[in-house]
Formats: sequence, C-alpha cells, structure tokens
Amino acid sequence: MKFFIDTADTAEISELAAAGFVDGVTTNPSLIAKTGRPFKDVIKEICQLIDGPVSAEVTAKDVEGMIAEGELLASIATNVAVKVPSTWDGFMACRALSTRGLTVNVTLCFSANQALLAAKAGATFISPFVGRLDDLGLNGMEVVREIRTIYDNDKSLKTEILASSIRTALHVKEAAMAGADIATVPPAVLRNLAKHPLTEKGLASFLADWDKTGQAIL
Ligand code: E4P
Repeated sequence: MKFFIDTADTAEISELAAAGFVDGVTTNPSLIAKTGRPFKDVIKEICQLIDGPVSAEVTAKDVEGMIAEGELLASIATNVAVKVPSTWDGFMACRALSTRGLTVNVTLCFSANQALLAAKAGATFISPFVGRLDDLGLNGMEVVREIRTIYDNDKSLKTEILASSIRTALHVKEAAMAGADIATVPPAVLRNLAKHPLTEKGLASFLADWDKTGQAIL
C-alpha cells in the first residue's frame, strides 16, 4: 500500500519526503485554509517537492465550473490530481476531465455505490472517508472492503482505492489489510506507526547493558 500525506504543510511534506515515505499528497479546502497561504502557490510548491500525485480540490458545485477549475488546477503542474466531490455533477466532471487525460481523485465518498459510479466515470482515485463514517458510529473500513470486492469483480475498473479520513494507526493497518491501494495519512499518524512501548523498553535495556561493556562501535 502506498502512502499519501494528508496535509498542505510544506515543511512537513519536505521532511517526510526526505525520509522516503511520501508517494503523493492530498489537500482539501480546509487543509489549504489552515496554511493561510494562496491556494495555487501552495499546490505549486508541493508539486515541486514530490514527484507523485498532489490532490487539489475544486470548489465549484456545478459540472461546468468543476471542469473549468479542474483544468486550471491541472495547469499548475503535471502531477496535480484534480479532486471532485462524489456528487452527480462531480461524476460528470470526473468523466470530462479523465477523458481529457487528467488525473482525477473523487473525494467525499461514503458508499460503495458512489465508488462504483466514480470508477465508471474514469476516476484515477476514489477516496472513501473512513474516519468520518466511524464518527457517526458506522464502519468506515467496511466501505473500503466493499469497494475492493466491487473493483476486483470487474477488471475493467482501473480506479485505485485511496483510503481517506485516516485518523489512527489502526486505520492504516486495517486499510492495508482491506486491500486499499493507498492510504492518505496525516503526518502525526504516520509517525505513530513507528511507535511501540516494547521497542522503547527493549532499546533502553539493550543500551544500558551496552554502556556496561564500555565499548563503542565507532
Ligand atoms: C483526503 O483527501 C481528505 O481530505 C481527508 O482525508 C479528510 O480527513 P478528515 O475527515 O480527517 O478531515
């Protein structure tokens, strides 16, 4: 499973990219607002930092507006993935933009049927929002599993499953086990994947014993 980073914070992206963990980046209007910077500048800078897809979301609600915005966003850099919502207009915009050869991420997906429509409309990525479903007491990961089954049952569907709204390390593990192609992970959650108390405890005792030897490797 590939890792996208769910942030518009360019300092975080640079640091995680240098560590080799960034296959792509996803942004949304809320993440852009958090930066306090102009949208196009942020997207351009992220696209220069990494080679993989960088999702930039349209804000128009109608199909013509989404297509026009999507074309403009795609002109910022060749690795922009235009993000459109899982609405009827969004699916039509997805078809138009993907037919023109653009990379399209269909976002705000909360059901397997929306994912089926997105794939039939030529989406490059479908983004089921796991955490927001869990917030309502529903099972977000079950939607990822349903989409995996539907896409595997029809080999003509080429859309990649991008597990989104990932909030915990458990979500990351479950997305990988459910067959998601990609998880988009907030930086803090990505760092949490390395943590285990037994690793910390074991390291402390190994190093305490090592100190007793009085040796140095270098
Ligand atoms: C990704 O594309 C989404 O914008 C993001 O994962 C949403 O996450 P949230 O539900 O934690 O805001």
